[in-house]
Amino acid sequence: MGTLKRIAVLTSGGDSPGMNAAIRAVVKTALYYDIEVYGIYRGYHGMVNDLITPLKREDVKFILPLGGTILKSARSEEFRTTEGRKKAYENLKKHSIDALVVIGGDGTFTGAKFFMNEFDFPVIGLPGTIDNDLFGTDYTIGYDTAVNTVVSAIDKLRDTAYSHDMVFIVEVMGRDAGFIALRSGLASGSGKILIPETKTCTDELSERLRKRIERDETSAIIVVAEGDDFGGAAEVKKIINERFPDLKTRVTILGHIQRGGTPSAFDRILASGLGYQAVKGLMDGKSGVMVGSVNRKIEFVPFDRSIKHHDKINIELKNIAEILAS
Ligand code: F6P
Repeated sequence: MGTLKRIAVLTSGGDSPGMNAAIRAVVKTALYYDIEVYGIYRGYHGMVNDLITPLKREDVKFILPLGGTILKSARSEEFRTTEGRKKAYENLKKHSIDALVVIGGDGTFTGAKFFMNEFDFPVIGLPGTIDNDLFGTDYTIGYDTAVNTVVSAIDKLRDTAYSHDMVFIVEVMGRDAGFIALRSGLASGSGKILIPETKTCTDELSERLRKRIERDETSAIIVVAEGDDFGGAAEVKKIINERFPDLKTRVTILGHIQRGGTPSAFDRILASGLGYQAVKGLMDGKSGVMVGSVNRKIEFVPFDRSIKHHDKINIELKNIAEILAS
């Protein structure tokens, strides 16, 4: 590929705190190297429907601490079709765009993979999801903030749990992965963590509760990832109620509150560094890769590898959390 003159950036999939910091880093780095930047609004939907406009320095002023994404995010059924992707390609060509930065999760990278293979178009990905379920980066942009949001919510719930001798079953996000549950569970001192990566054993859960009751501890926090094999917080409450009818149980589903808010310093730093590297990667002719940070080193991981690899969950953390909370 010749010299890069104009790139475009989009955010896609579930928003995550730090996406704006990443957009800012992409825009500022590109402008620094005399590359023009276009913003594509509403993800792939905007690429198909030509929601594409130039982004200037002023457009990214003050966005570093903002949650959400100024470029908005959307799902696009059209982009799943060859015709939709062709329209998207023609729109990029119409604006003389030479390369693309996509910020999102596995769905975003899957779309990017199809697109770049079909049209031989350079694409680099940035890991933007609170779920942390991408291989090739220790942390995804937004994960740290989401974990902090969960921890501060659990700290508050614990006050009521203790005061009223209640068991709170807190459902956190993670449709396919338990990363948020695991770290927030450990950081909040929660007694039990249920995640999709391990089989949930209700007898073990009952045994822990029984031991607590014996010690006259009738308040507890159980963290459940929404994708847990046992079926989520409501199911867990049901089984506890059946086995311990005298225990007061409450379900709290934290929901989309976990996706919002100002990004933590960690997420701002991560997004800034990865955004910078994405532009540098495109300048070096890289494509079809996600930029990640592994052991504090920048890695460019092929999309295929970054998608749907959950093997890096640290099960030892779960054991530590449960021993420390016993
Ligand atoms: O951003 C990822 C995620 O948080 C998943 O953990 C969750 O299942 C999903 O988003 C829900 O998003 P939506 O309600 O937008 O489909």
